[in-house]
Amino acid sequence: MINIIRVKDYEEASDKAFEVMKDFLKPGKVLGLATGSTPLGLYARMVKDHEENKTSYADIRSFNLDEYVGLPISHPESYYAFMHRNLFDKIDIKEENAHVPSGLGDDLEAQAKKYDAMIDESPVDIQLLGIGSDGHIAFNEPGTPFNSGTHVTDLAESTIKDNCRFFDNDISKVPTQAVTQGIGTIMKARNILLIATGANKAQAVKDMIEGPIDEACPASVLQRHPNVTVIVDEAAAALLK
Ligand code: F6R
Repeated sequence: MINIIRVKDYEEASDKAFEVMKDFLKPGKVLGLATGSTPLGLYARMVKDHEENKTSYADIRSFNLDEYVGLPISHPESYYAFMHRNLFDKIDIKEENAHVPSGLGDDLEAQAKKYDAMIDESPVDIQLLGIGSDGHIAFNEPGTPFNSGTHVTDLAESTIKDNCRFFDNDISKVPTQAVTQGIGTIMKARNILLIATGANKAQAVKDMIEGPIDEACPASVLQRHPNVTVIVDEAAAALLK
């Protein structure tokens, strides 16, 4: 079931997301985390809450959704670096508990299987998601099987263009592959929190919520999950009935 929360703009979306997330910031919880522009406001609120209210992450574990293939973790646009810069280095989560899939190594598919096994051992209590303008969740592009586990994938042309802004607007610098949790992996999370803001997400939001459940829109699979909250701002909700 998709529970839709409509808000005005990005700031309100981040406030609401923090309200939802707050219930899960407790010892023993497992968080599923995302990168990109969408979660930045939420992460800023989590950092502020840690500083002001001393909310501790010492007994919290996390699993990120994805990582570019081939970028060293020292590269500022690696998702490992993104997570450390925007969240992990500013809270007290233990390095060994904050998992980001690796996009480096000789056998990425074997590493992906190990990542799924780790998640199976520590089921995710709440998975945070953004949505791609093409309806992707994590880097599961249109056409990805709904039962997929963590795997290596080619990024869609539209995703490479969308992410160009993080790479000096130079398309040749954007990695073309990623390691991503699969749709099957994401669907195992007990709760899902998806945030969508901005006009360029409006069509994907409509397809996710009102469209058929179809691999052409990966996010539409969420209609089958028992516990999904979608926070959507006015611009991203513009095409909803
Ligand atoms: C990031 C991720 C992606 C993004 C999506 C939206 O870990 O898995 O699916 O959530 O591409 O990106 P932004 O938030 O930059 O619009």
